[in-house]
Amino acid sequence: MSRPDRIRIRNIGWLVPCRGRERGPLQEWSQLGARQDCDVVVEMQNDTWILTWIGPADASGPAADSDIDLEGRLLTPGLIDCHTHAVYAGDRSGEFVQRMAGRSYQDIAASGGGIQATVTATRQATVQELVDATSVRLEEMLAWGVRVVEIKTGYGLDVPTEMRLLQVIDLLRRKYRRRLTVVATAMPAHAIPPEFSSHPAAWTTRVCEVVLPTMAQSPVHVDFCDVFVEEGYFDLASAERIAQAASALGLRLKAHVDEFADIGALPWAIERGATSVEHLLQTSSANIRLLGQSNTVAVCLPLTSLFLREPVARMRQLVDAGALVAVATDCNPGSSNTTNLPLAMQMAVLAGRLTAQEALRAVTRCAALALGEPDGFAGRLQVGEPFVATAFDMETPDDLFYQFASPPMASWLLEPLWRP
Ligand code: NIG
Ligand code: FE
Repeated sequence: MSRPDRIRIRNIGWLVPCRGRERGPLQEWSQLGARQDCDVVVEMQNDTWILTWIGPADASGPAADSDIDLEGRLLTPGLIDCHTHAVYAGDRSGEFVQRMAGRSYQDIAASGGGIQATVTATRQATVQELVDATSVRLEEMLAWGVRVVEIKTGYGLDVPTEMRLLQVIDLLRRKYRRRLTVVATAMPAHAIPPEFSSHPAAWTTRVCEVVLPTMAQSPVHVDFCDVFVEEGYFDLASAERIAQAASALGLRLKAHVDEFADIGALPWAIERGATSVEHLLQTSSANIRLLGQSNTVAVCLPLTSLFLREPVARMRQLVDAGALVAVATDCNPGSSNTTNLPLAMQMAVLAGRLTAQEALRAVTRCAALALGEPDGFAGRLQVGEPFVATAFDMETPDDLFYQFASPPMASWLLEPLWRP
C-alpha cells in the first residue's frame, strides 16, 4: 500500500476552528478555539482530507509529503451556505424596481409575477442552460469561500421540471465535486403552480402522492424536503401532509416559517422534528424561547430582509435564548439576488446584532448542523474530522467583518487540498 498523502499547512497567522459552544453568546475568538501562529497537518484517508495534527509553527509534528505556506493569513472552516434556491432561469429585475416603488411582494405574486414568473422561465430552460446559469452562481460562491451549498428545487412545480432540477443539481455535484459539497432539497411545496391555482389542495395531494415519491426514487440523492408554510402558500394542514409523506420517504424536514406572517408554523415544525426552520422574520418571543430549547436550527437570512425591505429576524434574541443560529444567503431571483455569504454574515452583525464570533459560527458549525453535517463535515476544524477550509487574504478574523462587502479571499492557496 502506498503511503498516504500528508500536507502541512504552515504559518497560519490565525486559525479559527469554530469548535466549542454551539449555543449562547460569544465574545472572544478564543471561545471558537482560535489560536495564532500555528501549523496543521492533513492526511488523505479514503478520498477525504482528515485533520490529523495542530501545533505551534516551530513544533516538529508528523512528517509531511508537501507544504502549503499561508504566510500569516487567516484560516477558517469552509463556509457553508445552508439555504439557497440557486437553480433557476430568468431574472426579476423589473419586479424588484416595482417593489422599490412601493408594490408589495404579495401583490406581484397575486398578479402572476414572483415565484410564478421564475417557474415559467425555468420550465422553458434546457438542462444545459440551467447548469450554465447556476455554474455562474456557484463560481461566485466559491470565490466567497463557500465549500458547502444547499440547493432547493421548487421553480419547476411539475414532475418533469422538478426532476430536471434534480438532474441539474446532480450534474453540478459532479462538475464541482472536487471543491464543493452540494446538498439537495426537494421543494415542490414552494408555491402553488398555475395549473392548480383554483384548487390548491389538489397540488398538496399531488406533491404527497406523486412528486415527492418520484423525486425520492430518482437516482439523484435527495437529502431534505422543504415546505413554504405561509399565508397564500401552504397552510398547517397541508404542511403536515407533506411532512408525513417526506418522512415516509426518508427525507428530513426543513420549513420556511414566519417570513410574512406567524401562522403557527414554528411550533409545528419543532414538534415535527424539523432539522431547521428558515426566515423567522415574524417569530414571537414565545417561539424564540421554544427554539432555544430545541435542536431545530434557526436559519436567518438577513439579505432577504434587506432585499424585501422587511425587518430582520431577531438574531440577538435567538442566540441569547440558546437557539442554534445559522445564517445563509437565500440566493434566489426574487427575494435575495445574491451569492455573497460573507455579506450575509456581516449583515447578521450589523442588522441582526450578533457578535462577529456568533456570525462566523452561524456560517460554519451551525450551518453544518442545519444540513445534518454533510459528507461528515461538521463545519469546524477538529483533529480526526474531515478538513474543509477557507483561507482569507487577511491577518485577523476581525478583518472578516471590517472588510465590508468584499472580504479578500486567498482560496487559491488551498488548491492542493481539493478532493482527488
Ligand atoms: O426563500 N420564501 C420562499 N421562497 C423564496 C423566494 C422565492 C422567490 O421570490 O422567487 C425565499 O424568500
Ligand atoms: Fe428560501
